[in-house]
Amino acid sequence: MDLIGKTAVVTGGAGGIGSAIARSLSSAGATVVLLDVDPAAESVAAEIAGHALVVDVAEPDVAETAVEQVLKLTGSLDILVNAAGIQVRTAAVDIREEDWERLLAVNLSSAYRLTRHAAKPLAAARGCIVNIVSLSADRAVAGIVPYGATKAGLLQLTKGLAVELGPLGVRVNAVAPGYVVTPMTDAVLDQPEFRARVLSRIPLGRLAEVDDIAEVVTFLVSDAARYITGAVVPVDGGYSVT
Ligand SMILES: NC(=O)c1ccc[n+]([C@@H]2O[C@H](COP(=O)([O-])OP(=O)(O)OC[C@H]3O[C@@H](n4cnc5c(N)ncnc54)[C@H](O)[C@@H]3O)[C@@H](O)[C@H]2O)c1
Repeated sequence: MDLIGKTAVVTGGAGGIGSAIARSLSSAGATVVLLDVDPAAESVAAEIAGHALVVDVAEPDVAETAVEQVLKLTGSLDILVNAAGIQVRTAAVDIREEDWERLLAVNLSSAYRLTRHAAKPLAAARGCIVNIVSLSADRAVAGIVPYGATKAGLLQLTKGLAVELGPLGVRVNAVAPGYVVTPMTDAVLDQPEFRARVLSRIPLGRLAEVDDIAEVVTFLVSDAARYITGAVVPVDGGYSVT
C-alpha cells in the first residue's frame, strides 16, 4: 500500500481503532492529521510525525475550520476516515435526551459535516472516505439501539455519498468492525459471560484487534481498492454470518 504524498484526516485518532488507523496510514506513507477531543491525540501525532487538532467534532462549526487548517498544514486532503464515536449502553426508551443528541452529533452529524466541507478538496485529489460503522448498523443489538441507529444512518450516508461523489472521483466506503478490544468495549468484554457469549458467535474464535480493522481501512483507501465504492466491509471474524 503506497500512500506517499497523501494527507489523511482521522477523527477519533486518539482512540483504540482511530490511533491504529492513523499508525497504519502513516506506515504506508501518508501524512496524518488526527482530530480528537482527547489531547492524547497529540502524542499519537508526535509518534507518527503527523498533526493533531484537539477539537470536538460534534460542534457544528468545527468541520469547516478543521478542513481549512488541514489544507493550511499540508496543502491537500486525500483521505477522510470518520472513526470518532461514542456508545451509550441503556434500554432505548430510557436514554436521556442529551445522550441521544450527543450520540447523533458525534457518530453521525460529525461525519456528514466533515464530508460536506472536505468534498471539494477530496474531489480535487480524487480521494476517498472511510466511515467506521458497526455490526449494530444493520442488526438489532439490545442495550445499544440508539448507537445502532446512528451507525445505520452512517451506513446509509456512506452508500448515498458513494453515488453522489463517485462521478467526482471520490470513493466512499465503510468498515463494520465486530467486537474489538478498545476503551469503548473494555467494560462489557471484561464480563466473562458476555465475552463467552460473543466468542461463541465468532467463527474465527477470537475478538478483533485494532490492527485487524486498521489494515482493512488502509487497503480501502489505497489504489488497490480503486474500483470499490459504496461497500460496507464487515471485519468481524465471521460474526455477522452466524
Ligand atoms: N470497539 C469496538 O468493538 C467497535 C465495534 C464497532 C464499531 N466501533 C466504532 O469504531 C470507532 C472507534 O471506536 P473505539 O472502539 O476505538 O473507541 P475509543 O473510545 O477507543 O475511541 C473513540 C475516539 O473518539 C473520540 N471522540 C469521541 N467523541 C469525540 C468528539 N466529540 N470529538 C472528537 N473526538 C471524539 C474519543 O476521544 C476517542 O479517542 C467508533 O466509531 C466506534 O463506534 C467500535
